Amino acid sequence: MEKNILTGDRPTGRLHIGHYMGSLKTRVTLQDSGDFDKIYIMIADAQALTDNFDNPEKVRNNVMEVALDYLACGLDPKKVTIFVQSTVTELTELTFYYMNLVTLSRLERNPTVKNEIKLRGFEKSIPVGFLNYPISQAADITAFRATHIPVGNDQLPMIEQAREIVHSFNNIYGNVLVEPTPVLPPSDKMARVPGTDGKAKMSKSLGNCIFLADDEETIKKKVMSMYTDPAHIRIEDPGKVEGNVVFTYLDVFAENEHFEKYLPEYKNLDELKAHYMRGGLGDVTIKKFLNNILQDVIRPIREKRILLSKDIESVYEILKEGSEKARKEAQQTLESVKHAMKIDYFDRDDFLQEMIDKYK
Ligand code: TRP
Repeated sequence: MEKNILTGDRPTGRLHIGHYMGSLKTRVTLQDSGDFDKIYIMIADAQALTDNFDNPEKVRNNVMEVALDYLACGLDPKKVTIFVQSTVTELTELTFYYMNLVTLSRLERNPTVKNEIKLRGFEKSIPVGFLNYPISQAADITAFRATHIPVGNDQLPMIEQAREIVHSFNNIYGNVLVEPTPVLPPSDKMARVPGTDGKAKMSKSLGNCIFLADDEETIKKKVMSMYTDPAHIRIEDPGKVEGNVVFTYLDVFAENEHFEKYLPEYKNLDELKAHYMRGGLGDVTIKKFLNNILQDVIRPIREKRILLSKDIESVYEILKEGSEKARKEAQQTLESVKHAMKIDYFDRDDFLQEMIDKYK
């Protein structure tokens, strides 16, 4: 059986290092593994509109930002197809048919949707399009016969819902749709880079993100103003590493080579933590260390992003060609779906023949 990947992001802002560690880096590894037949990466503008319908400019502007972030991180259009969701109109058609297979109460029970309804203050009146987005996401996944869906933990309920739709469709109409499995980030800590303020999630509205496009000075400022341990006042004071944002980041980003390069007095993170807890290690030292590491991670991405942005026409072509290719793929699935659902009246001769026989 083919092994295909589909995943994507809502274009509601530039991507940040949380996205990078939690998913973009894994996508590049999967792309280069040679294990997959087809890889589709979708800029989910239609899904972004389900809760930004009153702000179309925001979605439009961020389509290109996300495309630049993708390419800057190393996604290679020769190996993956990058496309814009709304241009593949087959997806909305699939969504319409899958809607018959899902109950309202099932959608309302979806934990991700529940959480987002609260976050967006939709409790009193939920837009139908928003409540429906898990079904549309099932269409995204199945249209590309995706077997592997690289996502963060928060998306597991979406994949579960897609699997239910696949089962229910195949039961009723025959074995047409392919069952997807989630591919989670390699470790929990990579999946959860907190905001620079220590809040669980980086979010543009909280102003606690480090973006892949940030310049050197901006990154430095953000790192130097991170929370550490409020009780660690003088260098000699013993410090806490739990809940200390700098150490949470070091847990994710610090490799032993970084110690060799920037802090050779320590062999590894355990030694650094032990010193901090004992007392005698200042916040400026650990912040400078983290800054050096983050600069090394982000610099090549930012530089590539700047080069790409100087040739926007080429990026535009990549998106346009990707979208055309994606559309052909989705068309094939839609054709099989409509055939299975017996609504392919004019695509083949069966319908005419049946009617001729019936009215003979
Ligand atoms: N819901 C995903 C997010 O918010 C984006 C997305 C849309 C997606 N369709 C998808 C992810 C299909 C995986 C598969 O990040």
